Amino acid sequence: MSPALPAIRIPVYRPELGGNEMAYVQQCLESTWISSKGEFIERFQSDFARFIGAEHVVAVTNGTVALHLALLGLGLGPGDEVIVPSLTYVAAVNAIRYVGATPVFADADAQTWQIDPKRVAKLITPRTRAVLAVHTYGQACDLAALGALCQKHDLRLIEDCAEAFGTRIGERHVGTFGDVATFSFFGNKTVTTGEGGMVVSRDAKVHALICKLRGQGLAGEKEYWHDVVGYNYRLTNICAAIGVAQMERADELIYRKRALATEMRAAMADLPLVFHLEQPGTTHSFWMISALARSEAERDGLRRALRLEGIETRPVFHPAHTLPMYAAGQTGLDVSVDLAARGLNLPSWPGLSAEQVAEIAEACRRCYHR
Ligand SMILES: Cc1ncc(COP(=O)(O)O)c(C=O)c1O
Repeated sequence: MSPALPAIRIPVYRPELGGNEMAYVQQCLESTWISSKGEFIERFQSDFARFIGAEHVVAVTNGTVALHLALLGLGLGPGDEVIVPSLTYVAAVNAIRYVGATPVFADADAQTWQIDPKRVAKLITPRTRAVLAVHTYGQACDLAALGALCQKHDLRLIEDCAEAFGTRIGERHVGTFGDVATFSFFGNKTVTTGEGGMVVSRDAKVHALICKLRGQGLAGEKEYWHDVVGYNYRLTNICAAIGVAQMERADELIYRKRALATEMRAAMADLPLVFHLEQPGTTHSFWMISALARSEAERDGLRRALRLEGIETRPVFHPAHTLPMYAAGQTGLDVSVDLAARGLNLPSWPGLSAEQVAEIAEACRRCYHR
């Protein structure tokens, strides 16, 4: 950013840490349980499992290693193809490469912005082993259609729920539909631990393997006996302590974010922005309040104008198939390219005030009417 730009007054995100976070972290320090053992780890895992309605969950260092473990836990590796949306945060794609498998990119649905099951169906080959569905920006993927496809072709279904804490299909939380699901608790996520993640497994054996790989591959028979190449992907008790405090306020945080999305839309109802909308039968958790401008130039102009007023926005992710390490010439991803060109994310943190929402809307309005 040029030095002439004013300081950011309204960022895209700011974590809400006004509950018991400080007290619980202090308890870790006072008890000296500051590494990856301690009571908060178990509490965080069980609070989280209860909230989403899952049986097997394990806390890990971040959402990226959660994906790595998910793929390892399902035995995916070289020679396997994994279908993944192009319009996603790069971590989901990188994790496929970590295990030596090949990402195959599916286009997005223009209305939901999520991986399009019709496009997935066309990409299935004898080498396809899994579909990695990412619930982007808090909107649920069409898991009924994806689940049916996976069942028909004997594919594993992985859900990346990094952006979808609080997202539901019917009454059921995302992350409970796939064989394995992952979450992120980075500082800009709806529930945060600073850095952190969770892996959810449907099957107890997959869960056990993931736990083992997370903890250096310990066999458990005798001390320091490792019978596979494992990793240190453990979450610290300090991070888990923050997570426990966040889970105490999970419903409130989700409620506030959903209300904020409604307020933002209402404040800008007169502008030609098309907002990312909740789909029937689902609960959108609005990790980000996302919208489409009419063109890339209009989107960029709007972002510039807001930034000049100290308001931060973010562009929608670059489609992964356009990034240098994945640009292998896959075509037919036009919806992803279009959404990435015109899409932007507005300030979306739950503590945003009504005045700030009005200020953001006014800044947009000035840009459109000048
Ligand atoms: C869809 C998606 N997957 C994975 C990740 C990676 O999570 P982390 O940053 O915790 O490693 C993110 C992070 O923002 C994400 O948005």
